[in-house]
Amino acid sequence: MNIGIDKIGFYAPPYYVDMVELANERGDDPGKYTVGIGQEQMAVTPLSQDIVSMAVNAALQVINDTDRNKIDLVIVGTESGFDASKSAAVYVHELLGIQPHARSFEIKQACYGATAGLQMAKDYVTLHPDRAALVIGSDVARYGLATGGEVTQGGGAIAMFITANPRILTLEADATFYSRDIMDFWRPSYSEYAMVDGQYSNEQYVAFFAEVWKAYKEKTGRTLSEFEALCFHLPYTKMGKKALSQVLTETDDEKQQALMNHYQASTVLNRNVGNIYTGSLYLSLLSLLTASEALEAGDRIGLFSYGSGAVGEFFSGTLVDGYLKNLPTTKIKELFANRKQISVSQYEDIFSKVLPQDGSELTIPAEEDASPVRLVAVKEHKRFYGIG
Ligand code: CAA
Repeated sequence: MNIGIDKIGFYAPPYYVDMVELANERGDDPGKYTVGIGQEQMAVTPLSQDIVSMAVNAALQVINDTDRNKIDLVIVGTESGFDASKSAAVYVHELLGIQPHARSFEIKQACYGATAGLQMAKDYVTLHPDRAALVIGSDVARYGLATGGEVTQGGGAIAMFITANPRILTLEADATFYSRDIMDFWRPSYSEYAMVDGQYSNEQYVAFFAEVWKAYKEKTGRTLSEFEALCFHLPYTKMGKKALSQVLTETDDEKQQALMNHYQASTVLNRNVGNIYTGSLYLSLLSLLTASEALEAGDRIGLFSYGSGAVGEFFSGTLVDGYLKNLPTTKIKELFANRKQISVSQYEDIFSKVLPQDGSELTIPAEEDASPVRLVAVKEHKRFYGIG
């Protein structure tokens, strides 16, 4: 029985800032941002969007009424949760109108959360092939204004509908994983912003990839030549390239070129959104599938997931015949066409706005946010969402 991704949806907030403008404002060479880091636009999340509304906006692209009755698991991977107790998944379950006898919960392990959810969903559907799971990665990446990490901020959500006989990607039972307690990136619960040891996090990302890739080859006997493309967790688009470059010499020149071409295709969306943390690997997969014209059914795609702190995992999937028809290509084009560019000072203004923390009431204006679901108010420490 094949299990995997049947549908995939993506949501990004309605504003973005141009990285050349940001570099100029910060007194940096724009080449550092666009080439050295590899980012062109950065999504900016207004008060009217949070991890719940973004998760629902992404999921609304993929589920219909039949799906609502089939979903047994609603899993949200996030590392920017706003509640240390109640999960984002319970709000998402309600807002989406999913049948009540479902398990809804949140998973946290930095950017690895959605992968843990995906593997759990795959196991569940393997045992219950007539049922389905909804796995979402939703995050806002915040390091702070004018910090070293600022250029790697972003926000957005990915939603994946996991079923038997999937129409996009069949997931293989071949994952290798690796965990080690390190302090490369973390966010104490009292802090709005992530803490990061930037260069150390880069090194550890590459080292974790090397570790799980070696374990994968030993476990499966597969070689790099058997992959059409590798997708990576992309905190910024240069990062995956650093990891890929260290293994490229394991294959011939022609294959190296093909893998690099596919790598470029896998960065198109991420380059214009920024880091979306848990959803980032799956945004890269979506980018590859929508941007590359050189893929076909049966092709094997490798996926590297990395969650600081840290857990790494490598696994693969094979493309299903007709996968192109099930991609949200038009919706993605509309989403990007409807985004509004804002100036650096407007971004700073939006970034600095916070919700009340004393229980007082705030009604949040929609402004230019025409997204289907928005955070509309907070009152007595409770969040209220509006649909339509
Ligand atoms: N033109 C072209 N390239 C230039 C340039 C120019 N004018 N100026 C600099 N560069 C290049 C540098 O040579 C460097 O390239 P290499 O990495 O290939 O050597 C690149 O631009 C970045 O320059 P720096 O290393 O000097 O940049 P920095 O010290 O300001 O920090 C960063 C970069 C560490 C990524 C920082 O933005 C950061 O801390 N980001 C957050 C942490 C992060 O994203 N870590 C990634 C791994 S952890 C992870 O994956 C989990 C997660 O999601 C956070």
